Amino acid sequence: MFDLHGKTVLISGASSGLGRHFANTLAARGAAIVAGARREARLQALVGEIQARGGEVLAVPLDVTRAASIEAALDAACAWRGVPQVLVNNAGVASTAPALETGEADWDRVLDTNLKGAWLLAQGYARHLVAAQQPGNIINVTSITAFRVAGGIAPYTASKAALGQLTRSLALEWARHGIRVNALAPGYVETEINTGYFDTEPGRAVVKRIPQRRIGTPQDLDGALLLLASDASAYMTGSSIVVDGGHLVSGL
Ligand SMILES: NC(=O)c1ccc[n+]([C@@H]2O[C@H](COP(=O)([O-])OP(=O)(O)OC[C@H]3O[C@@H](n4cnc5c(N)ncnc54)[C@H](OP(=O)(O)O)[C@@H]3O)[C@@H](O)[C@H]2O)c1
Repeated sequence: MFDLHGKTVLISGASSGLGRHFANTLAARGAAIVAGARREARLQALVGEIQARGGEVLAVPLDVTRAASIEAALDAACAWRGVPQVLVNNAGVASTAPALETGEADWDRVLDTNLKGAWLLAQGYARHLVAAQQPGNIINVTSITAFRVAGGIAPYTASKAALGQLTRSLALEWARHGIRVNALAPGYVETEINTGYFDTEPGRAVVKRIPQRRIGTPQDLDGALLLLASDASAYMTGSSIVVDGGHLVSGL
């Protein structure tokens, strides 16, 4: 039911953290992977990992803040194996500063990557699907900060809440084209986006507020990822799946 043989999955932000893990997880289930990000040397390392296990993978340079780069990456993916069956909109960045001290450049960097980048990639992908008269599947990686807030990351929480709403808007509009759009909303998972934070006093305090008393591992997301990426979720669109050790239901 969760088999991905015969599917090609395009993943943005595949050079590290969750994106890299998603690429390996999906490849292990039979998907051919198109891995996009800016750091090409990191992508080549991922290509080596997947190929060493017999998987099929194409690395494409991708900067989601540049429309021309998105177009080129989509063209490369389509030229390789036709229009991908699945897009994982995973690229994301964060900035950390009190709202009063957050500059315009930080706001733009976070919103341009997490929201506008995801929008442009989803739209470009959907245009290819519609032109090819092919169904499709988009997974937007949001966050528990799409639902609740934390201090010092206002642009990030705004970007993720908006991406959650964009997920629902696109699900509504594109169901007629056979395109499903869902969100995967992780709680805290240790990656480069939060390196060192969970070794600090505030970071340890966060862990104490998670009902399961630990932060997540990338592997904790595998079940939800495979559900959303496969035909097992054929009747799901506009949904958000939260994977957070209960963090969203922590007591007030
Ligand atoms: N870790 C968590 O606790 C957590 C929780 C909830 C949600 N998330 C979300 O999960 C996603 C992955 O984050 P992560 O934790 O894996 O962090 P990460 O290790 O820092 O990975 C972020 C990825 O995004 C890519 N990226 C950033 N800007 C980009 C751009 N302009 N164009 C293309 N790719 C870009 C980076 O690649 P390059 O720098 O090579 O381009 C990198 O591969 C993000 O959307 C994040 O918000 C993470």
